[in-house]
Amino acid sequence: MADASRAIRPRPKSPSVQLGGAIWRWHVTMAASILHRLAGMGLYVGALIFMLWALSLASGAGAYGRFTQIIGSPPGKVVLFALTLGVFYHVSNGVRHLFWDAGVGFQPKTASTTAWLVIAIAIVATLAFWSVLFMEGAL
Ligand code: HEM
Repeated sequence: MADASRAIRPRPKSPSVQLGGAIWRWHVTMAASILHRLAGMGLYVGALIFMLWALSLASGAGAYGRFTQIIGSPPGKVVLFALTLGVFYHVSNGVRHLFWDAGVGFQPKTASTTAWLVIAIAIVATLAFWSVLFMEGAL
């Protein structure tokens, strides 16, 4: 006969999958790390777009016109805005990593503060960059 009490007994979980537990608690340093990888992957897309820009430029006025038409459209601008954010974030957080490579900034409080700092720098720098583009009439 099956043991009913055994069937409903909760199974033990690894501490690493206990949401809200000590290991996978959300923290800004974790978000900063995930964002760094996301931004890095975005930069690959940016490098491809940059390559298409150079190719279209080398292919003549027609191809370049089509490229600027696509990249200058509202969806194209959204992509460029996201890429700007990715560039500023990845570079700022890359510098944060360089400090770590020198053994500086590992204290939990410092690591959290610098994580917020690079997120803020990326947002402010992106908005400043696009404001300049707007004021110069480039948009
Ligand atoms: C087009 C240029 C770039 C591309 C495509 C790129 C791409 C990436 C990607 C995909 C990663 C994630 C690797 C992983 O998590 O396994 C990464 C990591 C990293 N990138 Fe970049 N990156 C670029 C430029 C830069 C620059 C300019 C810096 C420095 C200012 C930088 C600093 C770093 C650092 C320090 C890491 C390691 C992060 C870690 O150890 O978790 N990257 N990059």
